[in-house]
Amino acid sequence: MINAQLLQRMIDASNDGIVVAEKEGEDNILIYVNRAFERLTGYSAAEILYRDCRFLQNGQSDPLVLQQLRAAINAGQPSRQVLRNFRKDGSEFWNELSITPVFNEADQLMYYIGIQKDVSEHMAAQRRITALEARLAEALEQIEARQGDERM
Ligand SMILES: Cc1cc2nc3c(=O)[nH]c(=O)nc-3n(C[C@H](O)[C@H](O)[C@H](O)COP(=O)(O)O)c2cc1C
Repeated sequence: MINAQLLQRMIDASNDGIVVAEKEGEDNILIYVNRAFERLTGYSAAEILYRDCRFLQNGQSDPLVLQQLRAAINAGQPSRQVLRNFRKDGSEFWNELSITPVFNEADQLMYYIGIQKDVSEHMAAQRRITALEARLAEALEQIEARQGDERM
C-alpha cells in the first residue's frame, strides 16, 4: 500500500511539472506544485502558491490557445495545449500543458491537475523543419520554372 508520504516523494521524483489548482472566482489558484515545476519555471513553491498560472505567460501566449484552454476549464473538461511561457529569469520555454478535472462524489468539480512538459527542443526542431520545407518548396518551384523555360 502506498502512503501519502511515499506518494509525495514519487510525485516530486517526476521529470515533468505536476500541479494542483483550485477554482477561486475566475482564477484557478495553485495549491500544490512539485519540484519539477519549480525547476522548470525557476519559481519556488512559496513564491507562486495561491496564484493563477497565467503569470507564466507574460501576456505573450497565443490568444486562440488560451481561448481553447479557458473553454475546456469552464466546461470542466480535460485539455492539452502547447503554450509559450517564461521562467522567473525571463527566459522562454514551450510548455506542453495537460490539464485534467477532478470531481468529488457529488460530481462537483473540485480541482484541476496540470502536467507541464518542456517541449522547447521539439518546437525548435519543428521550426527548423518548417523553414527547410519552405526552402525546398522554393527550390522546386525554381527548378520547375527553369524546366518550363528550357522547353519553350
Ligand atoms: C491545473 C492548471 C495548470 C495550469 N498550468 C499552466 C501553465 O503551466 N502555464 C500557463 O501558461 N497556464 C497554465 N494554466 C492556464 C492558466 O491558469 C489559465 O487558465 C489560462 O491562462 C486561461 O485563462 P485566462 O485567459 O483567464 O488567463 C493552468 C491551468 C490549470 C487549471
